[in-house]
Amino acid sequence: MNLKNKVVVITGAGSGIGAATAKLFGKHKADVIVSDINMENAEKVSTDIKNEGGKAFAFETDVTKFEQVENLLKTVVEKHKKLDVMVNNAGIGGKHQAKTADHSHEDWHNVIAVNQTGVFYCMQLALQQMLKQGHGNIVNVASLAGLKASGNNLSYSASKYAVVGMTKSAALEYGRKNIRINAVCPGFTHSALLEQLLAVSPDMGDKLKRFIPMGRFGEAEEIAEAICWLASDNSKFITGQTLTLDGGTSL
Ligand code: NAI
Repeated sequence: MNLKNKVVVITGAGSGIGAATAKLFGKHKADVIVSDINMENAEKVSTDIKNEGGKAFAFETDVTKFEQVENLLKTVVEKHKKLDVMVNNAGIGGKHQAKTADHSHEDWHNVIAVNQTGVFYCMQLALQQMLKQGHGNIVNVASLAGLKASGNNLSYSASKYAVVGMTKSAALEYGRKNIRINAVCPGFTHSALLEQLLAVSPDMGDKLKRFIPMGRFGEAEEIAEAICWLASDNSKFITGQTLTLDGGTSL
């Protein structure tokens, strides 16, 4: 996989899947922009990459704010003159678990703002730059919840189905422009987001594992491998696809 000197922006890269992805791009000698709303975590990831001999800088961005995403990409292009890869990873779960009739409006607005509108803003601005330079690669982090029904989770489900839809529709639009757009769909993967779900009850972890044929949760590093592969020329005839990484859960 040759990712050397690729300019890669990753949103939500201060933690979990985003952090593991940033570190893997760093190992492959890409120029990594570690973007997150949490600057302290982004700085830590950027420092780790540099300590391992990679190239990185941290940048504070709230993906729900169009002007902040604009500022992020403007800064990257001023510095590096191009944007090769955009990984739209920032995402949140709702704070409450409830069926649709009782779904919290606060959760709805927050989850849609980050997971759906945030991905739209990032895709739109990344595509404008990629069209100018004549090439580009976008990897969106959707979820198994964007492919299958999930209870007590309506805003998350809606937002991840939207990410899959945006991935396919935009891939259709830009196939002839040398821009590929794909999505990964992780199942339950160790991260802060999963910890939040497991905190619901002490036996939640065991309950969830019963639905995973491989009998374990995924690791952020395993998702990162798939993201880097989709971003590399090793997958160069693939666009508009979802790659499911779920230990067989969807079976
Ligand atoms: P995480 O909570 O460890 O990381 C999410 C990161 O996004 C954090 O660093 C957080 O500060 C950042 N973030 C939150 N709101 C933001 C905003 N408005 N602007 C910019 N950054 C923001 O969670 P994890 O699991 O690594 O999640 C990454 C992606 O993977 C998300 O899109 C999530 O929906 C998706 N995913 C996670 C699964 C899991 O089981 N962990 C399963 C399927 C998908």
